Amino acid sequence: MNVLNESIIKARLSKLLKTRKMGKSIYVFNELDSTQDYANSLPKNESFHGTIVIARKQNIGKGRMGRNWISPEGGLWMSIILIPDFSADNIIFTQFIGALAVADAIFENTKICCKLMWPNDVLINEKKVCGILIDVHVENETKKIVMGIGLNANIASSLINDYLTSHDLKATTIKEEYGNEVDLLFLVKSILERIEYYYDNFISCGNTSEIIDRWKEKSDMLGKKATVHDGNQMIVGHIFDIDQTGALLMKLSDTSIKKITYYDNVTLH
Ligand code: BTN
Repeated sequence: MNVLNESIIKARLSKLLKTRKMGKSIYVFNELDSTQDYANSLPKNESFHGTIVIARKQNIGKGRMGRNWISPEGGLWMSIILIPDFSADNIIFTQFIGALAVADAIFENTKICCKLMWPNDVLINEKKVCGILIDVHVENETKKIVMGIGLNANIASSLINDYLTSHDLKATTIKEEYGNEVDLLFLVKSILERIEYYYDNFISCGNTSEIIDRWKEKSDMLGKKATVHDGNQMIVGHIFDIDQTGALLMKLSDTSIKKITYYDNVTLH
């Protein structure tokens, strides 16, 4: 992707994609403050299900919990618009769909097996290679989800790790783990195809257990000790399951159970 201009990227990607809806409307930029902000602010008549916004680099990339997201050239910085035809309670499952799709896409392109960490981080060798950000807009009957995917692909991890605090999970990149650069357009193709696969399955069977089971298979969080940061309070316990609403379940030392949701800040020990 690095040597091509925006319109060539759009044309190549459109040709590659074998999806029905994902990526049928594409915005590509050399540089943007944030693909997430751009997709969030697209008006309704340009926010189709499957619309994607990609930037080669972002100046003010956004992470979860109001954090910055370092987004130099060489990474895959993309936001995808989903117009869900399911209830607002199930929106949480799009985070699992995003993480599963990225893990599958990395495997397809490199044969590397990733692990998933709550709520939607993708890890290689216990370091973070991708983070996913979900923004939700609900207006009367209309819902719009923007799924931001930040995938450290063809960059040096030092570009990111230099900015992290000692509490943050260390970052890695595909280039370092794979030993080679990957074609970003093939990655985009695989991610969009896998998102469409999981999303359509979810819609057609209407139950969440397949996605939860797949997520559990790829996660090694179950059984681990974790801390939830709740304001000034720190709650420590052991993760033991995910419930049917998509919440993580943690058993505390007094045997009570704490539900952890997407908006909670949790770290593993
Ligand atoms: C996280 O904190 O783990 C989520 C990071 C999400 C970053 C992506 S990069 C593409 C999109 N645009 C943004 O500004 N953020 C998301």
